[in-house]
Amino acid sequence: MKIVLLGPPGAGKGTQADLISEKYRIPKISTGDLLRATANAGTPLGKKAKEYMNRGLLVPDDVLIELIKEKLKEKSMKKGFILDGFPRTLAQAEALQKLIKGFVVIQIDLSDEEITKRLSGRRMCKCGSSYHIESIPPAKDGVCDKCGCTLYQRDDDKEEVIRKRLDVYRKETAPLVEFYRKRGLLRVVDGSKGKDKIFGEMRGIAESI
Ligand code: AP5
Repeated sequence: MKIVLLGPPGAGKGTQADLISEKYRIPKISTGDLLRATANAGTPLGKKAKEYMNRGLLVPDDVLIELIKEKLKEKSMKKGFILDGFPRTLAQAEALQKLIKGFVVIQIDLSDEEITKRLSGRRMCKCGSSYHIESIPPAKDGVCDKCGCTLYQRDDDKEEVIRKRLDVYRKETAPLVEFYRKRGLLRVVDGSKGKDKIFGEMRGIAESI
């Protein structure tokens, strides 16, 4: 099972990717998570990536394509995977066409207004869990249900950066909807529904591949 998730920032890609990964026991490849890990490691590449991310800009294609190429070579990817956050440009989509076959692209659609609410209310844990202060709150305020650590807000979830990320999505990533529609690979789900309802639709698509 090979699934590519497409959608604007905050549409719920990460949330659904985690559910799919757990249900079908396939690895999730999140380029955002990989880049944040590189940034936290403080390597020269990580520092550079952080500059782009904190400004709401895309990290250059050559870096991302190389990252994905290497990741897809790993043994754990053999029985399938879910890609969250890649591709995000036409150059990345074209590179991916050469790397994998037999995949489906699921676009999670959501309005800008809802995206802003979702991202400004998102809280993260260093264990990778994600919450929302209103729609998906932790049992105890500010504390991760899974590991008990203190939750934090991502640097790029500030309102001015969210606006930039949305502009970049429209300009660079939205054209991929047509790219995949033309190739008959695109399925669309409505991201404004509750997370379990969306997951039900995602399962329907995943099991039809
Ligand atoms: P990345 O981390 O991929 O960010 P993103 O695509 O902007 O997506 P998000 O993680 O913000 O949102 P999401 O869709 O996963 O939503 P989530 O499930 O968390 O990338 C960050 C940066 O890295 C980029 O800006 C770029 O700089 C760089 N980068 C990454 N990939 C790159 C690439 N390929 N090329 C170049 N640069 C790249 O949900 C959001 C919130 O809503 C959460 O609080 C969640 O709890 C809540 N929520 C989820 N589902 C629901 C629901 N159904 N109802 C109510 N609330 C919900």
